[in-house]
Amino acid sequence: MRMESTLYKTWLQYNEIPGSELRREYADLLGRVVVERETSRHCTAAVNELTEGFKSMLRTNAVFMDEAPASGSYLRIGVKVVEAAGTNREGRGWEKGEDAFSLKLIKAGEGKRLELIGRSPSGVLYGVFHLLRGMALGLRPEELEREECPVNRLRMINQWDNADGSIERGYAGNSIFYEGGKIVADTSRIRDYARMLSSVGINAISVNNVNVHEIETRFITEEGLPEVARVAEVFRNYGIALFLSINFAAPLAIGGIGTADPLDPNVQQWWAETANRIYRHIPDFGGFVVKADSEHRPGPFAYGRDHADGANMLAEALEPHGGLVIWRCFVYNCMQDWRDRSTDRARAAYDHFGPLDGKFRDNVLLQIKNGPMDFQVREPVSPLFGAMSRTNQVLEFQVTQEYTGQQRHLCYLVPQWKQVLDFDTHAVSAGVQVKNIVEGSLFGMKISGVAAVSNIGNEECWTGHPLAQANLYGYGRLIWNPDLSAEAIADEWTRLTFGNDKDVVEKVTQMLMASWPIYESYTSPLGVGWMVVPHYHYGPDVDGYEYSRWGTYHFADRDGIGVDRTAATGTGYVTQYYIPNRETYESLKKCPDELLLFFHHVPYSHRLHSGSTVIQHIYDTHFGGAEAAEGLSLIWSALAGKIDAERYEAVESRLAEQRDHAKHWRDVINTYFHRKSGVPDERGREIY
Ligand code: GCU
Repeated sequence: MRMESTLYKTWLQYNEIPGSELRREYADLLGRVVVERETSRHCTAAVNELTEGFKSMLRTNAVFMDEAPASGSYLRIGVKVVEAAGTNREGRGWEKGEDAFSLKLIKAGEGKRLELIGRSPSGVLYGVFHLLRGMALGLRPEELEREECPVNRLRMINQWDNADGSIERGYAGNSIFYEGGKIVADTSRIRDYARMLSSVGINAISVNNVNVHEIETRFITEEGLPEVARVAEVFRNYGIALFLSINFAAPLAIGGIGTADPLDPNVQQWWAETANRIYRHIPDFGGFVVKADSEHRPGPFAYGRDHADGANMLAEALEPHGGLVIWRCFVYNCMQDWRDRSTDRARAAYDHFGPLDGKFRDNVLLQIKNGPMDFQVREPVSPLFGAMSRTNQVLEFQVTQEYTGQQRHLCYLVPQWKQVLDFDTHAVSAGVQVKNIVEGSLFGMKISGVAAVSNIGNEECWTGHPLAQANLYGYGRLIWNPDLSAEAIADEWTRLTFGNDKDVVEKVTQMLMASWPIYESYTSPLGVGWMVVPHYHYGPDVDGYEYSRWGTYHFADRDGIGVDRTAATGTGYVTQYYIPNRETYESLKKCPDELLLFFHHVPYSHRLHSGSTVIQHIYDTHFGGAEAAEGLSLIWSALAGKIDAERYEAVESRLAEQRDHAKHWRDVINTYFHRKSGVPDERGREIY
């Protein structure tokens, strides 16, 4: 691993500021940094970051001082703590405002003072990253002024890393956390990751897979905890609270208690003792992430209890220490008989959790995937958002590209996430968007926010595809402020990563913004989803999931395709939405084209709003999509010589693979539907 490589440095390149005038201006303003001693003790990461940043961007060694100089310009850093009754006794309070910072440029005598005030040491750190980002973007000092407060309180990353070093749905090498059943001895790469996450405002991380295997079950034991504590310390320095995914059956598996029944006093006591032990080792431990009664993971159902019983039992154990229980809603029947047309997997989360609204303790959060199925390239928004007004909620995204090209294809996901956040649920009234719900104040949630599955591994560029770094960056920036546009984030990421050359910025931004629609067009038409190779989820296999137990069907026959989820003739899934969404989806006329096959079974001759028939749409988008994928590699090749060889070639080879693989997708999908329907392509193109 070469830490100095441009691939490794991601968006934290810290290149020398071009333009000697601006550089001199910054060097003059920031050459002296005043941090009171008490503040600097709590802000080591921020101070280190400034030192490094100034050294490489300004070619100056900043001088740190305890007191303001008598004359001249300087940067002053301070903490003004926000008074609040926190939930976490030792660490984060998860209070709104505690991560806020302000930057002001103030005239001081003949010089100037840039004042960075954080509402906590984390606020200072976010302010420092903001300052360095602004410098790299070429902003002038007065353009840096602002007051920032993150919109979401919990801004989380979920690692799906396993102790054996593998990563569930990881597409960028092995884990940076584990090797051969153990936590890595050298945590320097974890530190670099913490730095990256903190630079985009992440404040929480769960460090092991939601599917908790044998070794990870023992992370919460006296032997396991000192190791986990080493990792917690790395993240603590960057204002990030550490969480663990736990095995609900741990009392049974490692506790020597013959049951994991949440209402059994021995089980309750075991978890209370476990919590005490964890907090002895990690005083600011964030809490548990729990996948229970989902895809064969143990849970409360085995004892005739419900999710509230299970979550509340854990919450009670963590409560005295200020810990949280993040309970996942990805619960459905994964042993469905495909012949059974009455069961609809899309309904599952709402049916399981809707009725439990109001039954969870204050330190429980329900984590809800963005869509009702599973991170498909296109899905409607989960109807659970807005359905529970008395339950803390976390929205779950997937940064790792499981169903969106596995970091071999370019797929910038920020536009997709934005659509989810901006979706008008019509809960309470019109205009209640998902972002208003997860932000928490609308329903007075004690704590809420957003989580996402990470896309990093131990490859040099972290993310497999170098341009997939934009997804991790964009995730953090978007949930800090959901009102940022996908394009502004793409532009910002490109400048930080590749510099401010106009041509590079325009072309890379254009590629990113086009990529999700392109990927959708040559893979999954009109919201149908799931036409992928089972288990691997890469590459086309139209009937791969059609006769399986996973509840993921398209029902294509010679006449038509799609899943009828209407109230009138289908599974009734649409009734989980508020009016008018319910009516929009129910109506064949009003249903948006991109979700048509998610809600309706229609003949191939059905005419879309676009004017095209369904079958012709399939042909057109697959021919067009494959062509557009080729176009991406052409745009990139026009940047040869403007980007360092290492990154240029790494991206070029991925785009070449995408170009070829898109043709494979095109031909498999078109051929399948041509053979099924017998309808020729209006334009007579080659179908096999
Ligand atoms: C998907 C994914 C699994 C994962 C699961 C989850 O189904 O394919 O690997 O465990 O989501 O979110 O729990």
